Amino acid sequence: MKTSPRTHGLPRFGHLIDVGIRPLGFFTALQRTYPDLVTVEVYGGEFTYISHPDLVEEILVTQQKKVQKDGFLKQHAKPVFGNGLLASDGEFWLRQRRMAQPAFHRTRIAEYAAVMSRHADTTFAAISPGSWVDIHPVMMRLTLDIVAETLFGTVHTDAKERIGRALETIMAHFAGDSLLQVLGMILQRSLDPAEEAAYQNAVQTFDTVIDAMIMERKRNPQDDTDLLGMFLVARDIDETPMSDTQLRDECKTMFLAGHETTALTLSWTLWLLATHPEIQQTLATEVASVIGQRAPTIEDMGALPVLEQVIRESMRLYPPAWVIQRESLEALTVTVGANTYTIPAEHNISLSPAAMHRDPRFFADPDTFIPSRWTQDFMAQLPKYAYFPFGGGPRLCIGQQFAMMELTLILARAIQAGTWQAKRLQRVVAQPSITQRPKYGISLRVRPHP
Ligand code: HEM
Repeated sequence: MKTSPRTHGLPRFGHLIDVGIRPLGFFTALQRTYPDLVTVEVYGGEFTYISHPDLVEEILVTQQKKVQKDGFLKQHAKPVFGNGLLASDGEFWLRQRRMAQPAFHRTRIAEYAAVMSRHADTTFAAISPGSWVDIHPVMMRLTLDIVAETLFGTVHTDAKERIGRALETIMAHFAGDSLLQVLGMILQRSLDPAEEAAYQNAVQTFDTVIDAMIMERKRNPQDDTDLLGMFLVARDIDETPMSDTQLRDECKTMFLAGHETTALTLSWTLWLLATHPEIQQTLATEVASVIGQRAPTIEDMGALPVLEQVIRESMRLYPPAWVIQRESLEALTVTVGANTYTIPAEHNISLSPAAMHRDPRFFADPDTFIPSRWTQDFMAQLPKYAYFPFGGGPRLCIGQQFAMMELTLILARAIQAGTWQAKRLQRVVAQPSITQRPKYGISLRVRPHP
């Protein structure tokens, strides 16, 4: 049995500043220094960072019954998203997951394709050819429209706008953008009253709008087969319906989990294509020969290998869920190769797809966008959890297939719309918050094909 290596950081504060201010750079450095795992001291506490794919598999799959969602999530996200699928645990989570699963069934997702395509058309038609746009808010609006219509039926434009704005403020609150915010999180009280008031207001608005949406659906039942309809008719074994609070938590969670992640991958992918014109050209040739100018459909999935490689590579470099956290319920014994380690009970564990995906042990030239690396041979030799943008095990993203279809249809439409170019000399910086967002936006323009 080996003891986990430790990193102490500064006296008393440990690695507080590293974790608070530059978490991704710090995790990437840990990933490259410690081949298996490392215990990190942070202001009187500690957590273990996992840097080997086999150990990621132990945590997410093999020993998943011995871990639960982490304390940070419970402390900070639960007040907003309550006991929804992302944050709940155990039997309760399993029951809710089973109830939500049919909305993400393959055949059901196939029916969403037309909605995705239609919204993509409207979005790209509204972008004036040749003018610069910050693409991220545009993609956020597009994916919000899609999640609202596919999972919740008709949601009024005003309600969607309020949900979008509320989520924006809530996510900014978790961004840890300033030292003041980081200190506030540690001290568990806000040091910036204006920001705190805006955040509380957004949380309140989010609840109010979602409650109104549910009330309206109860008054005017529409489709029992969309997610909201299924939640409304679901009954527990003792025939009790889901409580109003639980209903609200699940809806809020789906809005959060279902739109920002996909919007981020769309924004980062368009940025990568705009800054790699030769790859964009190869993709444009593929899209022109397989789809031409007609609307992409679900049947086209599987016939666009370059697009599939582009999406995979984009999520390697910029996985939206850049960190996944767990807490051990009991002591874990984990093994990698000839090494066996113990992780104590009630201990925080961090896994980072973003840091793992740039590990030179698994990806040659790890910081460069090379979609063509994703050959069948490459994938066959890659350790399973060296690449895990959607997590793994029973808590694997429920929306993975939904997202993959959405990404394929929208990106195919974007490429049909024209050639994407990036504004020169702009600062494009990935800011790790709950997700990995472009801190200063991404300015792009599209020029129609000749
Ligand atoms: C590119 C897009 C997406 C990425 C990268 C992504 C990533 C992830 C990851 C990594 C997890 C696991 C978190 C953990 O283990 O702690 C997760 C969970 C989840 N995702 Fe996604 N996601 C995406 C799109 C979506 C979409 C479109 C939806 C819904 C429409 C969705 C809904 C959820 C939900 C509800 C969970 C919690 C599942 C559970 O614990 O049972 N996601 N996602």
